[in-house]
Amino acid sequence: MRKFLIAGNWKMNLTGAESARLARELAAQLPSGCPAETAVIPALVHLQAVRREIADTPIKLGAQNVCWEKKGAFTGEVSAAMLKEIGVAFVLVGHSERRHIIGETDPLLNKKTRAVIDEGLTVILCVGERLEERQGNQTMAVIGRQINASLAGVAPQAVAKEQVVIAYEPVWAIGTGLTATPRQAQEVHAFIRARLGELYGPEAAETIRIQYGGSVKKANAGELLTQPDIDGLLVGGASLAADEFIGIVQAARTAGTDRAVAIG
Ligand code: PGA
Repeated sequence: MRKFLIAGNWKMNLTGAESARLARELAAQLPSGCPAETAVIPALVHLQAVRREIADTPIKLGAQNVCWEKKGAFTGEVSAAMLKEIGVAFVLVGHSERRHIIGETDPLLNKKTRAVIDEGLTVILCVGERLEERQGNQTMAVIGRQINASLAGVAPQAVAKEQVVIAYEPVWAIGTGLTATPRQAQEVHAFIRARLGELYGPEAAETIRIQYGGSVKKANAGELLTQPDIDGLLVGGASLAADEFIGIVQAARTAGTDRAVAIG
């Protein structure tokens, strides 16, 4: 059974001191024995400080960005090996802010995805349609294209080693307060799993976790997680407050128990 992954993407919102404080609060208060996996994704420059706070807890560390190259003259970049060295487990690739504000393209995102996997880390590959694409009935075409392009050349072994997580984040739902309804999200998640099945076989596709992201908060987390193909949440704004993030993890605990009962 797929284990929920609840990850907090702190973006460029917190100072080092604030990041350490939030990490300390989470380390102290996150429910133990929770069936969901949790991760925090601070700014690159705060990874070390956050790592110190979550050492000896089950909370994992994620990075918001990575270089597509292994090493060399790439001023300002950080390699996957460097991230691994300081304890990073997950790396976000393809977040809509990087696609649409920074201008990262599918071929570049494919190189980043492969760089993360080659280093033995797990990629959280973000995909999602813009509002005009949804309104123009282009959602599945856009998502399908992003999945195929980003995963080109990614071997089945990487999937078998659970190095691939997908995050479906409709661009219109990020930071806007608009959440996809559980039904809208489930529809796209099922499409993504079917596409992963075409790439890796249906059995392997069943093992890949697909997170939902976009205005998730504790009030809507539980409902989203009751959907059969939603395997976790990528949380932005609501992950900046310890009580909200903990509430989301608690919702995952309840939904996880329900899911186990439903399946088991
Ligand atoms: P949000 O961001 O929860 O603030 O909408 C989600 C994300 O960008 O991952």
